[in-house]
Amino acid sequence: MSGPERIPLARPVIGPREEELVLEVMRSGMLSLGPMLTRFEAAFAGRLGVDDAVAVSSGTAALHLAVRELGWGRGDEVLTTPLSFIASSNCLLFEDARPVFCDVDPLTLTADPAAMEAAAGERTAGLLPVHIFGWPAAMDEIERLARARGFGLLEDAAQALGTVCSDGRQAGARGNPAAFAFYANKQMTTGEGGMLVPAGPEGGAGARSERNQGRAPNMKFMDHDRLGFNYRLTDVQAAIGVAQLERLDDLLASRARVADAYSARLAAIGAAEPGAGDPDDLVLPLGDRGEERRSWFVYVVRLPADADRDGIIAELDRRGIDARPYIPCIHLSDLYRERFGTREGQFPVAEDFSRRSLALPFHPGLEEAAMERVVSELAGLLGRPRP
Ligand SMILES: Cc1ncc(COP(=O)(O)O)c(C=O)c1O
Repeated sequence: MSGPERIPLARPVIGPREEELVLEVMRSGMLSLGPMLTRFEAAFAGRLGVDDAVAVSSGTAALHLAVRELGWGRGDEVLTTPLSFIASSNCLLFEDARPVFCDVDPLTLTADPAAMEAAAGERTAGLLPVHIFGWPAAMDEIERLARARGFGLLEDAAQALGTVCSDGRQAGARGNPAAFAFYANKQMTTGEGGMLVPAGPEGGAGARSERNQGRAPNMKFMDHDRLGFNYRLTDVQAAIGVAQLERLDDLLASRARVADAYSARLAAIGAAEPGAGDPDDLVLPLGDRGEERRSWFVYVVRLPADADRDGIIAELDRRGIDARPYIPCIHLSDLYRERFGTREGQFPVAEDFSRRSLALPFHPGLEEAAMERVVSELAGLLGRPRP
């Protein structure tokens, strides 16, 4: 007898429109640097209300090109958050710049601007906030700090397509270079892929050259005037992107609906809003606040401080439910410990969250019955009455 169907952590929504546009590209014979790429870039820039967007092979590639646009390199320190995916600080290492971590705000889990200000020093060249889990970083304060001290600023918006900051402007559309990512679990996907929003026309031109081995679009075949990479996104991937953008509003609304439904079910087993209730108990993700809008990328709860997270994940797995610790602190990875001597205890807020974090299955098509199963099993494992 087979058990109930497995509930995966994430699942992309792909349909006939994606298939149609992919076929169109395949039949056109223009699989790379063709018209679908340009169409995707224009549609993305239009969606964000920015002048330009440069499609690349990954979010990491977008971050790397942005670091180069900002000119950060050897001897430069960049203030950033330890509570993020490792690519958000690895992009600095590619250019020999040094990430300097600052602790996060306990409610928003994004870099605390006061901690950034305190960490700024003579070698500081820039700030790299991350809109983690789709929650907007405190851009007003961070931009103020950057302006006051002459720092460069790069937004990691990999998890934040559709996120709205406290002044009502979208993350990644504020005039700072910004990087988006389109891996299959993101708000929209191209399978793999990324988008750089450059700060201006020069940045856009530079990035278009650097993604294509240092050959600008107006140069002759096999001419190269600068160091470049192969960071091209194929037109097949761009076709998926165009179709996903067409339905982005629906995808974002479905994600928000699933998140609200989860929060209601979890509140019924005693989970508290962040900032209300006992911070050492089960805590929900932060919901919208004033003008700030989360674009729901993942659904991550904070388990009670004394819960056995690894045991809970293993038990959920046994019961056909995927859940993950999300997200480990970058400074506690072996790479950063060995390279920079970072260690436990340096960033208590980020570390406490990271230790207790649990990402539940989350995607736009997640059904009520699946959520009911997840929350019921979690309640049982936490020793609470099942709803
Ligand atoms: C915060 C953050 N930055 C950067 C990246 C890198 O994007 P990619 O995996 O497309 O290279 C990711 C990917 O998940 C991310 O979550």
